[in-house]
Amino acid sequence: MEINNVDICCGLAWGDEAKGKIVSELLRTKNYDWVCRWSGGSNAGHTIYIDNKKYVTHLIPAGVFYNIKCYIGPDCYINYQDFIEEINYLKNNGFNTDLIFISPNAHIITQEHIDEDLAKYKTKQGSTGKGIAPCAKDKFARIGKLVKDDDDFITNYSNNILTPELNGDILCEGAQGFWLDINYGNYPYVTSSNCLPYSACSLGFPPKKIRDIYGAAKIYDTRVGVDPLFDENSISNSDCDIIEQIIDLGEEYGSTTKRRRKVFWLNLDKLITAINISGTNIIVISKIDILEQVNFYKLQYTDGDITYDTIEDMKNDISNILYRKCKLLEKVIYSNNPKSIEEL
Ligand code: IMP
Ligand code: MG
Repeated sequence: MEINNVDICCGLAWGDEAKGKIVSELLRTKNYDWVCRWSGGSNAGHTIYIDNKKYVTHLIPAGVFYNIKCYIGPDCYINYQDFIEEINYLKNNGFNTDLIFISPNAHIITQEHIDEDLAKYKTKQGSTGKGIAPCAKDKFARIGKLVKDDDDFITNYSNNILTPELNGDILCEGAQGFWLDINYGNYPYVTSSNCLPYSACSLGFPPKKIRDIYGAAKIYDTRVGVDPLFDENSISNSDCDIIEQIIDLGEEYGSTTKRRRKVFWLNLDKLITAINISGTNIIVISKIDILEQVNFYKLQYTDGDITYDTIEDMKNDISNILYRKCKLLEKVIYSNNPKSIEEL
Protein backbone atom coordinates (compact mmCIF):
# COMPACT_ATOMS: atom_id res chain seq x y z
CA MET A 1 0.00 0.00 0.00
CA GLU A 2 1.33 3.43 -0.79
CA ILE A 3 1.12 6.64 1.19
CA ASN A 4 -2.37 8.09 1.13
CA ASN A 5 -2.51 11.34 3.09
CA VAL A 6 -0.27 13.03 5.62
CA ASP A 7 -1.61 15.28 8.38
CA ILE A 8 0.73 17.36 10.47
CA CYS A 9 0.28 18.89 13.91
CA CYS A 10 2.75 21.68 14.70
CA GLY A 11 3.22 24.28 17.39
CA LEU A 12 2.65 27.91 16.39
CA ALA A 13 4.30 29.49 19.40
CA TRP A 14 7.09 28.59 21.86
CA GLY A 15 6.06 25.00 22.53
CA ASP A 16 3.54 23.93 25.18
CA GLU A 17 0.56 24.74 22.95
CA ALA A 18 -1.34 21.49 23.71
CA LYS A 19 -0.22 19.63 20.60
CA GLY A 20 -0.62 16.39 22.56
CA LYS A 21 -4.34 17.07 22.98
CA ILE A 22 -4.83 17.72 19.25
CA VAL A 23 -2.91 14.59 18.25
CA SER A 24 -4.85 12.53 20.75
CA GLU A 25 -8.18 13.86 19.46
CA LEU A 26 -7.18 13.18 15.84
CA LEU A 27 -6.20 9.63 16.73
CA ARG A 28 -9.54 9.14 18.45
CA THR A 29 -11.62 10.43 15.57
CA LYS A 30 -9.72 9.65 12.35
CA ASN A 31 -7.89 6.62 11.01
CA TYR A 32 -4.13 6.63 10.79
CA ASP A 33 -1.66 3.87 9.96
CA TRP A 34 1.40 5.67 11.33
CA VAL A 35 2.11 8.35 13.91
CA CYS A 36 5.55 9.92 13.51
CA ARG A 37 7.89 12.30 15.30
CA TRP A 38 10.14 14.24 12.97
CA SER A 39 12.23 16.44 15.28
CA GLY A 40 13.58 17.12 18.74
CA GLY A 41 14.21 14.63 21.48
CA SER A 42 13.20 14.17 25.08
CA ASN A 43 13.32 17.96 25.55
CA ALA A 44 9.67 17.77 24.47
CA GLY A 45 6.77 16.75 26.69
CA HIS A 46 3.42 15.61 25.38
CA THR A 47 0.49 15.34 27.77
CA ILE A 48 -2.32 13.03 26.76
CA TYR A 49 -5.46 11.83 28.52
CA ILE A 50 -6.67 8.32 27.75
CA ASP A 51 -9.87 7.29 29.55
CA ASN A 52 -9.33 10.19 31.96
CA LYS A 53 -5.86 8.97 32.90
CA LYS A 54 -3.01 11.38 32.27
CA TYR A 55 0.10 10.18 30.42
CA VAL A 56 3.21 12.21 29.68
CA THR A 57 5.66 11.12 26.99
CA HIS A 58 8.74 12.90 25.73
CA LEU A 59 9.94 10.96 22.73
CA ILE A 60 7.53 8.24 21.65
CA PRO A 61 4.60 9.33 19.45
CA ALA A 62 1.08 9.13 20.83
CA GLY A 63 0.10 6.40 18.33
CA VAL A 64 1.27 3.84 20.87
CA PHE A 65 -1.72 4.75 23.10
CA TYR A 66 -4.08 3.83 20.25
CA ASN A 67 -2.32 0.68 19.07
CA ILE A 68 -1.00 2.42 15.94
CA LYS A 69 2.52 2.03 14.57
CA CYS A 70 4.90 4.79 15.58
CA TYR A 71 8.06 6.05 13.94
CA ILE A 72 10.76 8.28 15.38
CA GLY A 73 12.53 9.77 12.35
CA PRO A 74 16.16 10.40 11.41
CA ASP A 75 16.05 14.07 12.42
CA CYS A 76 15.37 13.21 16.07
CA TYR A 77 17.90 13.18 18.91
CA ILE A 78 17.75 10.09 21.11
CA ASN A 79 18.82 9.67 24.69
CA TYR A 80 19.05 5.93 25.22
CA GLN A 81 18.28 6.08 28.94
CA ASP A 82 15.19 8.23 28.37
CA PHE A 83 14.12 5.86 25.59
CA ILE A 84 14.30 2.79 27.87
CA GLU A 85 12.45 4.61 30.64
CA GLU A 86 9.68 5.58 28.29
CA ILE A 87 9.43 2.09 26.79
CA ASN A 88 9.17 0.62 30.30
CA TYR A 89 6.60 3.22 31.37
CA LEU A 90 4.46 2.32 28.35
CA LYS A 91 4.90 -1.43 28.84
CA ASN A 92 3.98 -1.16 32.53
CA ASN A 93 0.81 0.65 31.51
CA GLY A 94 -0.14 -2.13 29.13
CA PHE A 95 0.77 -0.56 25.77
CA ASN A 96 2.39 -2.50 22.93
CA THR A 97 5.92 -1.18 22.43
CA ASP A 98 6.56 -3.54 19.51
CA LEU A 99 4.74 -0.91 17.46
CA ILE A 100 7.57 1.58 17.96
CA PHE A 101 10.17 2.03 15.23
CA ILE A 102 13.15 4.27 15.41
CA SER A 103 15.30 5.41 12.51
CA PRO A 104 18.75 3.81 12.42
CA ASN A 105 20.00 7.28 11.40
CA ALA A 106 18.66 9.19 14.39
CA HIS A 107 21.47 10.61 16.50
CA ILE A 108 22.42 9.38 19.94
CA ILE A 109 22.71 11.85 22.81
CA THR A 110 25.69 10.86 24.93
CA GLN A 111 26.49 11.65 28.57
CA GLU A 112 29.11 14.11 27.25
CA HIS A 113 26.38 15.95 25.36
CA ILE A 114 24.28 16.20 28.51
CA ASP A 115 27.25 17.40 30.57
CA GLU A 116 28.05 20.07 27.99
CA ASP A 117 24.41 21.17 27.81
CA LEU A 118 24.24 21.53 31.60
CA ALA A 119 27.54 23.44 31.69
CA LYS A 120 27.10 25.76 28.71
CA TYR A 121 23.46 26.07 27.67
CA LYS A 122 21.20 25.45 30.64
CA THR A 123 21.78 28.72 32.45
CA LYS A 124 22.65 30.94 29.51
CA GLN A 125 19.82 29.86 27.21
CA GLY A 126 17.49 28.04 29.55
CA SER A 127 17.83 24.77 27.67
CA THR A 128 16.10 21.69 29.03
CA GLY A 129 19.49 20.12 29.82
CA LYS A 130 18.72 17.07 27.68
CA GLY A 131 21.86 17.38 25.55
CA ILE A 132 20.13 18.61 22.40
CA ALA A 133 22.47 21.42 21.26
CA PRO A 134 25.74 19.48 21.75
CA CYS A 135 24.26 16.45 19.97
CA ALA A 136 23.12 18.66 17.07
CA LYS A 137 26.60 20.21 16.93
CA ASP A 138 28.18 16.77 16.49
CA LYS A 139 25.54 15.76 13.97
CA PHE A 140 26.29 18.70 11.71
CA ALA A 141 30.05 18.40 12.23
CA ARG A 142 29.52 14.83 11.00
CA ILE A 143 31.14 13.24 14.02
CA GLY A 144 27.92 12.12 15.72
CA LYS A 145 26.91 8.63 16.72
CA LEU A 146 23.85 7.04 15.12
CA VAL A 147 21.30 4.70 16.66
CA LYS A 148 22.49 1.94 14.32
CA ASP A 149 26.02 2.30 15.72
CA ASP A 150 25.05 2.11 19.39
CA ASP A 151 25.83 -1.28 20.95
CA ASP A 152 23.24 -1.05 23.74
CA PHE A 153 20.53 -0.08 21.29
CA ILE A 154 21.35 -2.92 18.91
CA THR A 155 21.57 -5.49 21.71
CA ASN A 156 18.28 -4.57 23.37
CA TYR A 157 16.07 -3.04 20.71
CA SER A 158 17.17 -4.44 17.35
CA ASN A 159 13.54 -5.13 16.40
CA ASN A 160 12.62 -1.50 16.96
CA ILE A 161 15.40 -0.06 14.78
CA LEU A 162 14.07 0.28 11.27
CA THR A 163 13.36 2.74 8.47
CA PRO A 164 9.81 1.64 7.73
CA GLU A 165 8.10 1.95 4.41
CA LEU A 166 5.45 4.43 5.46
CA ASN A 167 2.04 3.73 4.02
CA GLY A 168 -1.62 4.60 4.31
CA ASP A 169 -2.57 7.65 6.37
CA ILE A 170 0.14 9.29 8.42
CA LEU A 171 -0.03 11.72 11.31
CA CYS A 172 3.11 13.72 12.12
CA GLU A 173 3.46 14.95 15.65
CA GLY A 174 5.42 18.18 16.04
CA ALA A 175 7.65 19.06 18.96
CA GLN A 176 8.47 22.53 20.33
CA GLY A 177 7.05 25.32 18.16
CA PHE A 178 7.41 27.84 15.35
CA TRP A 179 9.25 30.47 17.41
CA LEU A 180 11.70 27.89 18.78
CA ASP A 181 12.66 26.75 15.26
CA ILE A 182 16.37 27.19 14.57
CA ASN A 183 15.63 29.24 11.43
CA TYR A 184 12.66 31.32 12.61
CA GLY A 185 13.04 31.80 16.35
CA ASN A 186 14.93 34.49 18.24
CA TYR A 187 18.36 32.91 17.64
CA PRO A 188 20.27 31.82 19.73
CA TYR A 189 17.25 31.46 22.06
CA VAL A 190 15.89 28.59 20.00
CA THR A 191 16.13 24.82 19.93
CA SER A 192 18.42 22.90 17.57
CA SER A 193 15.61 21.52 15.41
CA ASN A 194 13.36 22.37 12.51
CA CYS A 195 9.96 22.57 14.15
CA LEU A 196 7.95 23.53 11.04
CA PRO A 197 5.93 21.23 8.77
CA TYR A 198 8.46 21.58 5.92
CA SER A 199 10.77 19.47 8.00
CA ALA A 200 8.31 16.61 8.54
CA CYS A 201 9.23 15.42 5.04
CA SER A 202 12.50 14.18 6.59
CA LEU A 203 10.37 11.21 7.70
CA GLY A 204 10.25 10.00 4.12
CA PHE A 205 7.18 11.26 2.26
CA PRO A 206 6.83 13.77 -0.57
CA PRO A 207 5.46 17.26 0.28
CA LYS A 208 2.54 16.73 -2.11
CA LYS A 209 1.08 14.12 0.23
CA ILE A 210 0.37 16.69 2.95
CA ARG A 211 -3.37 17.17 3.50
CA ASP A 212 -4.11 19.11 6.69
CA ILE A 213 -1.81 21.14 8.86
CA TYR A 214 -3.15 21.55 12.39
CA GLY A 215 -1.52 24.47 14.16
CA ALA A 216 -1.59 24.59 17.94
CA ALA A 217 -1.75 27.85 19.89
CA LYS A 218 -2.97 29.17 23.20
CA ILE A 219 -5.12 32.20 23.91
CA TYR A 220 -2.13 33.64 25.77
CA ASP A 221 1.59 33.21 25.11
CA THR A 222 3.97 31.29 27.33
CA ARG A 223 7.72 30.99 27.28
CA VAL A 224 9.94 28.70 29.28
CA GLY A 225 13.69 29.22 29.17
CA VAL A 226 15.72 32.34 28.51
CA ASP A 227 14.51 34.78 25.84
CA PRO A 228 15.12 38.55 25.94
CA LEU A 229 11.87 39.05 24.01
CA PHE A 230 10.03 37.93 27.12
CA ASP A 231 10.74 40.43 29.87
CA GLU A 232 8.44 40.01 32.83
CA ASN A 233 9.38 43.53 33.98
CA SER A 234 7.50 44.83 30.97
CA ILE A 235 4.19 43.60 32.42
CA SER A 236 2.25 46.42 34.04
CA ASN A 237 1.63 46.16 37.78
CA SER A 238 -2.11 45.96 37.27
CA ASP A 239 -1.71 42.97 34.92
CA CYS A 240 0.78 41.13 37.14
CA ASP A 241 -1.86 39.71 39.47
CA ILE A 242 -3.94 38.39 36.59
CA ILE A 243 -0.88 36.86 34.94
CA GLU A 244 -0.02 35.07 38.21
CA GLN A 245 -3.56 33.70 38.35
CA ILE A 246 -3.24 32.46 34.76
CA ILE A 247 0.02 30.65 35.60
CA ASP A 248 -1.71 28.94 38.54
CA LEU A 249 -5.04 28.10 36.93
CA GLY A 250 -3.44 27.14 33.62
CA GLU A 251 -0.82 25.02 35.40
CA GLU A 252 1.87 26.72 33.36
CA TYR A 253 4.74 24.54 34.51
CA GLY A 254 6.85 22.52 32.05
CA SER A 255 5.94 18.86 31.61
CA THR A 256 9.62 18.01 31.04
CA THR A 257 11.46 20.38 33.37
CA LYS A 258 8.69 21.46 35.79
CA ARG A 259 9.88 25.05 35.32
CA ARG A 260 7.41 27.91 35.72
CA ARG A 261 6.47 29.30 32.33
CA LYS A 262 6.40 33.05 31.76
CA VAL A 263 3.00 34.25 30.56
CA PHE A 264 2.27 37.19 28.25
CA TRP A 265 -0.77 38.40 26.31
CA LEU A 266 -1.19 36.67 22.96
CA ASN A 267 0.96 38.28 20.26
CA LEU A 268 -1.40 38.14 17.30
CA ASP A 269 1.15 39.44 14.78
CA LYS A 270 3.48 36.58 15.60
CA LEU A 271 0.64 34.09 15.45
CA ILE A 272 -0.31 35.33 11.95
CA THR A 273 3.28 34.89 10.74
CA ALA A 274 3.44 31.39 12.23
CA ILE A 275 0.15 30.37 10.60
CA ASN A 276 1.16 31.70 7.20
CA ILE A 277 4.67 30.27 7.07
CA SER A 278 3.72 26.90 8.54
CA GLY A 279 0.78 26.61 6.13
CA THR A 280 -1.68 25.93 8.93
CA ASN A 281 -5.21 25.41 7.60
CA ILE A 282 -6.81 24.41 10.90
CA ILE A 283 -5.85 26.19 14.10
CA VAL A 284 -6.77 25.09 17.59
CA ILE A 285 -6.51 27.84 20.20
CA SER A 286 -6.55 26.30 23.67
CA LYS A 287 -6.97 27.44 27.26
CA ILE A 288 -10.02 29.59 26.63
CA ASP A 289 -11.34 28.31 29.97
CA ILE A 290 -8.39 29.84 31.81
CA LEU A 291 -9.03 33.38 30.52
CA GLU A 292 -12.71 32.91 31.31
CA GLN A 293 -11.84 32.02 34.87
CA VAL A 294 -9.79 35.19 35.36
CA ASN A 295 -12.43 37.06 33.35
CA PHE A 296 -9.89 39.32 31.67
CA TYR A 297 -9.38 39.44 27.91
CA LYS A 298 -6.41 41.06 26.28
CA LEU A 299 -4.00 40.57 23.37
CA GLN A 300 -1.19 42.40 21.57
CA TYR A 301 -1.77 43.46 17.97
CA THR A 302 0.12 45.86 15.67
CA ASP A 303 0.56 49.07 17.64
CA GLY A 304 -0.55 48.00 21.09
CA ASP A 305 -2.80 46.03 23.36
CA ILE A 306 -6.49 45.40 22.77
CA THR A 307 -8.78 44.65 25.70
CA TYR A 308 -12.21 43.03 25.34
CA ASP A 309 -15.24 42.88 27.62
CA THR A 310 -16.06 39.24 26.96
CA ILE A 311 -14.43 36.09 25.64
CA GLU A 312 -16.95 36.09 22.77
CA ASP A 313 -15.76 39.55 21.66
CA MET A 314 -12.17 38.40 21.83
CA LYS A 315 -12.79 35.19 19.90
CA ASN A 316 -14.78 37.01 17.20
CA ASP A 317 -12.06 39.60 16.72
CA ILE A 318 -9.28 36.99 16.59
CA SER A 319 -11.19 34.88 14.05
CA ASN A 320 -11.94 37.89 11.84
CA ILE A 321 -8.34 39.04 11.82
CA LEU A 322 -6.94 35.56 11.23
CA TYR A 323 -9.30 34.78 8.35
CA ARG A 324 -8.43 38.14 6.78
CA LYS A 325 -4.67 37.79 7.16
CA CYS A 326 -4.18 34.06 6.66
CA LYS A 327 -5.33 32.95 3.25
CA LEU A 328 -4.76 29.22 3.80
CA LEU A 329 -6.71 29.16 7.05
CA GLU A 330 -10.02 27.27 6.80
CA LYS A 331 -11.01 26.72 10.40
CA VAL A 332 -10.42 28.38 13.77
CA ILE A 333 -11.27 26.17 16.73
CA TYR A 334 -11.34 27.39 20.32
CA SER A 335 -10.86 24.79 23.03
CA ASN A 336 -11.84 25.18 26.64
CA ASN A 337 -11.20 21.63 27.78
CA PRO A 338 -7.75 20.23 28.64
CA LYS A 339 -8.72 16.69 27.68
CA SER A 340 -10.54 16.83 24.38
CA ILE A 341 -11.58 19.05 21.45
CA GLU A 342 -15.21 18.69 20.46
CA GLU A 343 -15.14 20.40 17.07
CA LEU A 344 -12.19 18.58 15.54
P1 IMP B 1 16.80 22.78 24.23
O1 IMP B 1 15.84 22.30 23.19
O2 IMP B 1 16.80 21.91 25.45
O3 IMP B 1 18.18 23.01 23.70
O4 IMP B 1 16.28 24.21 24.72
C1 IMP B 1 16.33 25.36 23.89
C2 IMP B 1 15.16 26.28 24.14
O5 IMP B 1 13.96 25.64 23.74
C3 IMP B 1 14.94 26.63 25.63
O6 IMP B 1 14.43 27.94 25.69
C4 IMP B 1 13.89 25.63 26.08
O7 IMP B 1 13.16 26.07 27.20
C5 IMP B 1 13.03 25.56 24.83
N1 IMP B 1 12.31 24.29 24.70
C6 IMP B 1 12.81 23.10 24.28
N2 IMP B 1 11.85 22.16 24.26
C7 IMP B 1 10.71 22.77 24.66
C8 IMP B 1 9.35 22.31 24.82
O8 IMP B 1 8.99 21.17 24.55
N3 IMP B 1 8.46 23.25 25.26
C9 IMP B 1 8.82 24.54 25.51
N4 IMP B 1 10.05 24.99 25.37
C10 IMP B 1 11.00 24.12 24.94
MG1 MG C 1 5.06 20.06 25.18
